[in-house]
Amino acid sequence: MRPTPKDDSLIRNQAYIDGQWVDALSGETFAVTNPATGDVLTNVSRCGAKETAHAIKAADTAQQLWKKTSAKERFAYLMKWHDLMHEHLEDLALLLTLEQGKPLAEAKGEVLYGANYVRWFAEEAKRVYGDTIPNATSDTRLLVIKQPIGVVACITPWNFPNAMLARKIAPALAAGNTVVCKPANETPLSALALAELADRAGIPAGVINMVNGITPEIGEEITSNPIVRKLTFTGSTPIGKKLTADSARTMKRTSMELGGNAPFIVFDDADLDAAVSGLMISKFRNAGQTCVCSNRIFVQSGIYDAFVERLNKAVSELVVGDGRSEGTSIGPLVHERAANNVRALIEEAVSKGATSKSFAIDELPNACFVAPTILTDVSDDMRIFHEEIFGPVAPIFKFDTENDVIKRANDTPFGLAAYFYSRDIGRVWRVSEALEYGMVGINAGAISNEMAPFGGVKESGQGREGSKYGLDDYLEIKSLCMGGIDT
Ligand code: SIN
Repeated sequence: MRPTPKDDSLIRNQAYIDGQWVDALSGETFAVTNPATGDVLTNVSRCGAKETAHAIKAADTAQQLWKKTSAKERFAYLMKWHDLMHEHLEDLALLLTLEQGKPLAEAKGEVLYGANYVRWFAEEAKRVYGDTIPNATSDTRLLVIKQPIGVVACITPWNFPNAMLARKIAPALAAGNTVVCKPANETPLSALALAELADRAGIPAGVINMVNGITPEIGEEITSNPIVRKLTFTGSTPIGKKLTADSARTMKRTSMELGGNAPFIVFDDADLDAAVSGLMISKFRNAGQTCVCSNRIFVQSGIYDAFVERLNKAVSELVVGDGRSEGTSIGPLVHERAANNVRALIEEAVSKGATSKSFAIDELPNACFVAPTILTDVSDDMRIFHEEIFGPVAPIFKFDTENDVIKRANDTPFGLAAYFYSRDIGRVWRVSEALEYGMVGINAGAISNEMAPFGGVKESGQGREGSKYGLDDYLEIKSLCMGGIDT
């Protein structure tokens, strides 16, 4: 197991403001730990409101020049950054595994996933088209141009510390904005390594800024500071609601990619092996810590036993361990608190009559680990039906009819991702249209990529990331009415 990156100058532990690596004004730091071992990896500058205000000012100054660069120049900067991500793939993946826990193969997948967003938006920078509109009066002409919003704040989570940041910074920069980022305190190293690579790519000082530390202070400065014109956040629904409300004080645009409670429905006409494979991806990716992870697995009664049997076999093949070890498929959860939450959900379900089957060959290394678990005999009154699990636990609910399962699948305030397996074309259309979700996987367990719009409805948020729609969230529409044409 390689303990550190080959290029150790990728390990940055200060804030990145106006192109400089700086300590917190207080000189304070906080520890970043490896959840697989409990080892402290390094200590990172613990910034607060003052450093954030400084970063916002730097971003504002830099934006005055950045917005004047041509689309082709921004394309070139972003592509250089993208190429460096590929060049340093192994190191970026190792840092990610060390601080977050996911298996190295998944970490590499995440780095490439993030780089794909950068390449996509580098290209999209060249396609920010305006419009001409038929004239409303004979001596006027109407046009629409699209312009950058200004300074964008990006607050990102620990479950995808590389890709979520790339997916926000890339469209922001492509559109001509500058950014102030607050990566999760659990996983700042992946983020700071991206800032280091942006610096090496020659992205000008102040265009990307990054602060970690006292989250409430940083959040308050971001949401109250009038210079910040947009806030994009990926994280929990309660925090998203607070950030949206706080941002209303200065009428910022917001994009919120929040929690989910994804149904995964297997109809009796499904290809069962394909459904099990799809579920393994959508449930156990990142040890169940994604907001698009299947949360409630609904299986039609006629195939319930056969499905559960095949799923048991697939889950028994998962290997729990340190993400750096060859063959590991399930790493630790991000911290013990997260693991305790998952254990509490299992305990509550069991106390109400669920049957729990855990799969782990060896003793778990520490309290951050949760063994992959299948829950049967579950019912809709259990917490696990209503709450995002964020762990490697698969509760299997039984259903009888299409109408019944659609009603239960939609019985949640969340609406991010949903999945179903069926080979009946009529049912495929009916169910796709009836599910109240922003993304639906049909006979597919992996739905995220840079070309597809990512985002939810209801309390799962607003806005879309990636795809041809993703840049609109970072642009203002300006209408130009030109008069005096006839004179
Ligand atoms: C997330 O969990 O927030 C993102 C998952 C994805 O991009 O697939």
